[in-house]
Amino acid sequence: MSQSIVSGTVSSAYLGADHQIAYQFLIRNSPPTPIAYQQHTTVTKSACNCLLFRPSTFTKTAMELVTPAVEKMGGSEGIRRNSTLICAPIMADTVDQMLVQMNLAKSSGADLVEIRLDSLKEFSPREDIQTLVKLSSLPTLFTYRPTWEGGQYNGDEESRLEALQLAMELGADHIDVELQAIDDFNNLIHGDKPTKCKLIVSSHNYENTPSVEDMGNLVAKIQSTGADIVKFATTALDITDVARVFQITAHSQVPIIAMVMGERGLMSRVLCPKFGGYLTFGTLEHGKVSAPGQPTIRDLLDLFNFRQLGPDTKVFGIIGKPVGHSKSPMLYNKAFRSVGFNGVYVHLLVDDVKKFLETYSSTDFAGFSCTIPHKESVVQCCDEVDPVAKSIGAVNCIIRRPNDGKLYGCNTDYVGAISAIEDGLRGSDVQNGSTVSPLAGRLFVVIGAGGAGKALAYGAKEKGARIVIANRTYDRARELAEVIGGEALSLADLSTYHPENGMILANTTSIGMQPNIEDTPISKEALKSYALESVEPQL
Ligand SMILES: NC(=O)c1ccc[n+]([C@@H]2O[C@H](COP(=O)([O-])OP(=O)(O)OC[C@H]3O[C@@H](n4cnc5c(N)ncnc54)[C@H](OP(=O)(O)O)[C@@H]3O)[C@@H](O)[C@H]2O)c1
Repeated sequence: MSQSIVSGTVSSAYLGADHQIAYQFLIRNSPPTPIAYQQHTTVTKSACNCLLFRPSTFTKTAMELVTPAVEKMGGSEGIRRNSTLICAPIMADTVDQMLVQMNLAKSSGADLVEIRLDSLKEFSPREDIQTLVKLSSLPTLFTYRPTWEGGQYNGDEESRLEALQLAMELGADHIDVELQAIDDFNNLIHGDKPTKCKLIVSSHNYENTPSVEDMGNLVAKIQSTGADIVKFATTALDITDVARVFQITAHSQVPIIAMVMGERGLMSRVLCPKFGGYLTFGTLEHGKVSAPGQPTIRDLLDLFNFRQLGPDTKVFGIIGKPVGHSKSPMLYNKAFRSVGFNGVYVHLLVDDVKKFLETYSSTDFAGFSCTIPHKESVVQCCDEVDPVAKSIGAVNCIIRRPNDGKLYGCNTDYVGAISAIEDGLRGSDVQNGSTVSPLAGRLFVVIGAGGAGKALAYGAKEKGARIVIANRTYDRARELAEVIGGEALSLADLSTYHPENGMILANTTSIGMQPNIEDTPISKEALKSYALESVEPQL
């Protein structure tokens, strides 16, 4: 008896879910059929209002840097809606390697380079700094981070501060001095600072993100040292920590660099231009970061449309945990760009969805997709829920109504998944004009009873399929089967369950999700008489 599995990442067919995991569905006794993908990227334009402001001092200082940077790049950046800079951290063992990286930074689209002197294995201050300043094709920021502030330098403090003084004298555009060392540095230079060089005074908190009041006091303290630019970085224990940092950034009267480190802080790095940050850090390669959570320059520019962001840009995102694997930002940001919509769509690593929605309650945060494990709990957080989503018991798409700011939840999972399965079943016969669903009368086994499982079970039932739910936790399978009107199975029973030809298995569990994409919810042995066909979304 021959059987086939057809699988595909279905959600590229619709907006409103995450795009990582393929729903896999198996068909007994039908030939493997490629699924043709259609993208329906409908984006509605809406009016944008935003009360946030950017201090004029910031705009002026950053623009001074941007103009020569863009000129140096032959104007290749084109029109940009903000003056927030992208700074590439340069960390290497040797000066030669640094120079290679600096050229790469320029060709990748960075505006300036942060030269991390503490990463050099051998360092001759005058000669090396002279070379780096002279040969840099981008404006420079020199940092010589000591171990006590999260860097690699563990030598004597005097030599460290003298090297920074030298960088300033030899033509650095910026130098970064830690708040803890600024008094000693000021004593060393006796106020003798070239006007060209901007002094960044920085503070790093690797433990948490303090209260708004404490961060406000920190900014005032840094400002009082004579800093041209205030920099502080905190650590995100929760994504809502970022909101406090945005508040500080948006109200700062001095140019400010304010970052929240870690995956939960990603938004602080991407949305800098919206809140008026002086610069953000973008790496040359994935994972090669100088602080946790930094995106790449290419992601900032190509994925998040960084140059087009402004105070009035609407923020959207995918709420989930884990969420970094999701391809939704690729789909939405490309769609936003292609229709000229002033929005940005980001990954949102959320632990507590209620707290998240209560914190980001302004109309600037205009809509969210919702994925594992929040699809069910988020139903309670919406002000209004579409009747179908209510019946399913899961929401994967939340829209903030522009008129009253209320959250409206709906479910697009079942439409995306079911229509993709139908297309797969129809295959080359798609033109036959029949209005009857190929799912009608079929045995449809849903593996999983979470948010996605509920949506598929509901959708397949609507199309007239006979539903069986198989789940790790049998009680959840039974509950869903009772609601939908179907049978329940344990995962173990599913291994030997193949009562008829043409039956479909749909995997809606997190098994098979990145990075373990070869894993399956039932044994390979149980699947061996099926043929697998994978269909990639065309983004
Ligand atoms: N392609 C898309 O567009 C799209 C759309 C929506 C969802 N998804 C994907 O679908 C998956 C489920 O999402 P969800 O929102 O439904 O999550 P969820 O509500 O948390 O449900 C997770 C389901 O997976 C099962 N499960 C988890 N770990 C398991 C394990 N080790 N062994 C067996 N079963 C396990 C759970 O079983 P228990 O009940 O026993 O815990 C539950 O049935 C995620 O990977 C998500 O990314 C994809």
